[in-house]
Amino acid sequence: MKGVIFTEFIEMVEDRFGFLLADKIVSASDLPSGGVYTAVGTYAFEEMQQLLTNLNKETDIETSTLLTVFGKHLFSRFYSLYPHFFVGKKNTFEFLSNIENYIHVEVLKLYPDAQLPAIKTEISTDGSAMKMIYKSTRKMGDLALGLISGCTQHFKEDIIVETINENDGGSEITFMLTKK
Ligand code: HEM
Repeated sequence: MKGVIFTEFIEMVEDRFGFLLADKIVSASDLPSGGVYTAVGTYAFEEMQQLLTNLNKETDIETSTLLTVFGKHLFSRFYSLYPHFFVGKKNTFEFLSNIENYIHVEVLKLYPDAQLPAIKTEISTDGSAMKMIYKSTRKMGDLALGLISGCTQHFKEDIIVETINENDGGSEITFMLTKK
């Protein structure tokens, strides 16, 4: 998993729960990296799982909720870090339709070892709803949910996001986004 995800995660933990707790979860985890991350580095996905497990132990907040909160935080950080991906994108559906064929493609050029999910989108003929199918062996649908919410907030749109189907313990999830 790319370092930018780790650096942003640690920053969110520091902001929301304080430096002490951030240090505590890093120390409690058995991390080959030692908990020292750089944005361009690549680290084992298991390190993220351990950090989440230990953050759950310390805060009593479900790991699924922690991942969704992190997704929202990450989306606003993506806006600061990669503003060019937002140029000309006017709304949530337009932005999300571009992840698979443009944004994650560019991400892969930037970080050739990135492990990205497959994301398929389909907008209804009247434009009021969008279906999104997320597929990944890393089963990070809760992170996707947070990123989607972060996106609707960014474009200041009232959109209901629901999970309408989930297969195989979360390796394939269908989200339905409906404009209010
Ligand atoms: C500017 C927008 C975005 C950028 C720059 C971006 C970039 C990235 C990067 C760098 C990773 C890490 C890959 C790795 O660790 O190897 C990633 C993973 C991921 N991205 Fe995006 N992303 C963006 C938007 C989105 C959105 C809106 C979604 C919502 C569906 C999304 C879903 C995911 C998920 C769920 C992962 C975790 C890996 C997995 O599930 O397999 N991304 N993205």
